[in-house]
Amino acid sequence: MRLVIPFNHDWLFYPQPVGLETPPSAFSWVTLPHTNKLFPHHNFDDADYQFISTYRKVFTLPQPRRGRRVFLDFEGAMLAATVTINDHTFPEHKGGFTPFSYDITDYLHDDDENLLTVHLDSRERADIPPFGHTVDYMVFGGIYREVQLRYVDLARIEGVFVYAHEVLTDAPKLQIDVDVWNQRDQEFAGVVKATIYDGDQVIKTLLQSTTLAAGERVNVSLSEICQGATWESLQLWTLDQPHLYRIVIEFGDDQISTHFGFREAQFRNDGFYLNGKPLKLFGLNRHQNYPYIGAAAPARLQRKDAEILKYELGCNIVRTSHYPQSRHFLDRCDEIGLLVFEEIPGWQHIGDSDWQNLSLRDVKAMIERDRNHPSIIIWGVRINESFDEPDFYTKTNALARSLDPTRPTGGVRFFLGGDFLEDVYTFNDFSNGILEPDHTPHLVTEFNGHMFPTKSYDNEERLVEHALRHARIQSLQMSTGGVAGAIGWCAFDYNTHKEFGAGDRICYHGVMDIFRLPKHAAYFYASQQAPSQRVILHAATTWKLGDLKEGVIEPIYVFSNCDRIEVFIGGVQQLAQYTRDVQQFPNLPYAPFKLMNLGVLLAHPYGELRIVGYLNDQAVAECCITQDAFPQRLTLQADDAVIQADGIDMTRIVFKITDDYGTPLPYTHTVVTFEVEGEADLIGENPFALVGGQAAVYLKARFTPGPVRVRAKTPYHALAEVLIVLQA
Ligand code: GAL
Repeated sequence: MRLVIPFNHDWLFYPQPVGLETPPSAFSWVTLPHTNKLFPHHNFDDADYQFISTYRKVFTLPQPRRGRRVFLDFEGAMLAATVTINDHTFPEHKGGFTPFSYDITDYLHDDDENLLTVHLDSRERADIPPFGHTVDYMVFGGIYREVQLRYVDLARIEGVFVYAHEVLTDAPKLQIDVDVWNQRDQEFAGVVKATIYDGDQVIKTLLQSTTLAAGERVNVSLSEICQGATWESLQLWTLDQPHLYRIVIEFGDDQISTHFGFREAQFRNDGFYLNGKPLKLFGLNRHQNYPYIGAAAPARLQRKDAEILKYELGCNIVRTSHYPQSRHFLDRCDEIGLLVFEEIPGWQHIGDSDWQNLSLRDVKAMIERDRNHPSIIIWGVRINESFDEPDFYTKTNALARSLDPTRPTGGVRFFLGGDFLEDVYTFNDFSNGILEPDHTPHLVTEFNGHMFPTKSYDNEERLVEHALRHARIQSLQMSTGGVAGAIGWCAFDYNTHKEFGAGDRICYHGVMDIFRLPKHAAYFYASQQAPSQRVILHAATTWKLGDLKEGVIEPIYVFSNCDRIEVFIGGVQQLAQYTRDVQQFPNLPYAPFKLMNLGVLLAHPYGELRIVGYLNDQAVAECCITQDAFPQRLTLQADDAVIQADGIDMTRIVFKITDDYGTPLPYTHTVVTFEVEGEADLIGENPFALVGGQAAVYLKARFTPGPVRVRAKTPYHALAEVLIVLQA
């Protein structure tokens, strides 16, 4: 029987390359995911995580082997790992974004302690993608994804690729390709069995006998025409109802399972179609980095990012710029219906042939890991923004197509023209418009970004213009035939190198800040979703005349998916009818409302701004901004009331200093101090010198269940407290 044991606890960590002469007492105990160094959220040197570290783990086999092979599976360690088990050292694994495994069976002590050592080189090595030149993001060090110990039989399943096609016909087809391997020294006759579940219910079982010679590894294909009573209630995977089926594959004593969906995703010359219906792709790019912890975010935070993109930002697609991202993130995209453009590691630079071979290895590892995710609709197989390299890219494309004939390839470029070896023309368009390429299908994979970096505490005019730039380009793409969609740069601010960013090692390109808290642009994105999903009403103003040039506050843009709005100033309703700015944004589902002629003058009292949003003549949302703001309150809010007491789990705690209306005040720089009572650790700056009126820290669970209280205080406000329960 297969046994997969999480191997994330009880690691020893030492931030230098050391051998056995260094005693365990010199190390610190850590859990995975692990970052080799914690940082403040900005103003730190990337050289500080570029070092070789030592991870050590002493273990006895949790179960007897009973003839099985034992593998050690790393989901991702940055950037090059040299793994030693007892007396055996494996060749260095190069590359931090795709999984790697070792068969450690022959080096294990069955009845004694085993010593596992990982020397992890987290320096930017020119021999490994994405390096060789600068990159605009930090590639933090550490064993930053999970590790498993896996026992498998000699006759076993190595992988499965499940895909549905012709799903919109009367007879959808399901293809199940199972990779089986007989490592025994004699023939093995077995049955490959596939059981398909809808929820807890078995809906179909498929069988195929196979006999493998000693050492033989083959692909066994099972297929099903999904017709008749069994399949009468077949449910498609859609964005609103992302129905997932589960499949369990058995062979001999081995068993694996995965989920999949029935959906048709097509890029046609006139745009993108999901399940036969045209869909304008509307989304943002995501880096996998977080404040303080680099890329070492546990499942809960990974999943939360997908939820933010779908529900808080109203996106229907995310690009995993510029590398394969956590399986937890992708699983959540499947579950909630968020489309994904996934791409190989790289940024502008192409290295020598060894480097290119690593990149080809990444194409394979990415597609083999992720091809069952219904959310993924395209593979990016060109180094982001690199120049033409026809031999290399002919290979990446051919490899992708051979591993997955169901999905198109894309290759993200920043210039028009050049080779077009992919299926979809994917273009970073920084023209502040939408350029017409020679090729279709055409997808805009980035825009805005460095054209208009914006901090959440920038001047109001800049913050509003930042939002409007996103709105203009999204509006334009919606009316440009042949454009399948546009994916803006980017969802969240991110730490970067000195060659980029604002000098504090942050690229302020996000529609949300590094803590995933919204700028005005985030509300523009959110407001494009149907109100049945979520009602949005946000006035893009601080309503303070003195913050604006020449004392003019107009126009004020209101991002909303309401049918209409009513506007009150100082309690008096404005008689003007405020309408959507369809002149500037003709093609958006919900163009921003534009407020003009408000009669508000500098040096005159003008009262609060209150806007009421209506749907079907029912007031459904209200937004109030006072002219007379004062930092009255400190608030704390945790994303989760309950987390696991496993030494790994974390939740975000947002803190804000707001006025009486709950509006954060961007120019509040008060120092906030935190205290934790209970079995958890605060991850973040403490004390925190606030910028932008709001920020976040994380709470990381220790191992003992029970309540944890986090308190925040400033010299000026009442104490704020939040309770989080750690559960076993
Ligand atoms: C692009 C690049 C992104 C990011 C962006 C900033 O050229 O692909 O990674 O650097 O610019 O606008």
